[in-house]
Amino acid sequence: MSMKIGIAGATGRMGRILVEAVAGSPDAVLAGASVRPGSDHEGRDIGEIAGLGTLGVAATSDREALFAAADVVIDFTAPELTMAHLELATATATALVIGTTGMDADQRAAMAAAAERVAIVYGANMSLGVNLLLGLTRRVAAALDEDFDIEIVEMHHRHKKDAPSGTALALAEAAAAGRAVALDEVAERGRDGLTGERRRGAIGLAALRGGDIVGEHTVIFAGAGERLEIGHRATSRAIYGTGAVKAALWLKGRPPGLYGMADVLGLT
Ligand SMILES: NC(=O)c1ccc[n+]([C@@H]2O[C@H](COP(=O)([O-])OP(=O)(O)OC[C@H]3O[C@@H](n4cnc5c(N)ncnc54)[C@H](OP(=O)(O)O)[C@@H]3O)[C@@H](O)[C@H]2O)c1
Repeated sequence: MSMKIGIAGATGRMGRILVEAVAGSPDAVLAGASVRPGSDHEGRDIGEIAGLGTLGVAATSDREALFAAADVVIDFTAPELTMAHLELATATATALVIGTTGMDADQRAAMAAAAERVAIVYGANMSLGVNLLLGLTRRVAAALDEDFDIEIVEMHHRHKKDAPSGTALALAEAAAAGRAVALDEVAERGRDGLTGERRRGAIGLAALRGGDIVGEHTVIFAGAGERLEIGHRATSRAIYGTGAVKAALWLKGRPPGLYGMADVLGLT
């Protein structure tokens, strides 16, 4: 039986792509699509809004109805809205795929708590390539000692609201895990002014913003006399939509728990 998938924030940049990905999946049906209360799009056919033709699903601001209608809701929105969705997911026993980035430590803890009652896939980046890069970063960081300085550089489009990107932070976590250190203790973010020399063992993060860049990440291991760089460039947001729908389908019948894209993609 087809999985009933609901899309939250369905008129956002990612929301529209997710609607298209679900509509194009032979294993899923679009169960609902939510928009902000008072949105001009409310009541309109979500397929028309996404430029896909009529899909027979009206955009709604009734979040409860979205969760009641779906087996799984895909949420690429904003942290405060994702928090509201965690409550609805547990109240209605609906699984969640969360792609929202920029959550703080308390919000991440709330997500982990909700995952004790429902199955959740969280991924700061749903692409296959980036998830492979995460694994490579961990391995290279484990192989090279602190003679190699680790710097992570990312660039995204001018509309992105959080920095550094969730993916850059996940890459930094992977590098820290490879070195068996806590990221909080070694991260150097947003250097500016008279910073002093680089700390040995630090993991640096730098964020660039501009134009329509979908997402670029480079992990640099800079040593004396040589430098290793591994990276990923996304040229289409469709990869995140494909990954999110794959995660939603993978959730079918899963017990409660907080899963990652590495689980979905079989990389663990
Ligand atoms: N995990 C991944 O692979 C991945 C990939 C790309 C993006 N992302 C993340 O996904 C999120 C969305 O990105 P985007 O580029 O699609 O952003 P966007 O175009 O701003 O879309 C956000 C959507 O959420 C809705 N929304 C936000 N806050 C809301 C609130 N309080 N109440 C109701 N609706 C609300 C917005 O509604 P309005 O339009 O009415 O404001 C919009 O539909 C970001 O966190 C981004 O970093 C993740």
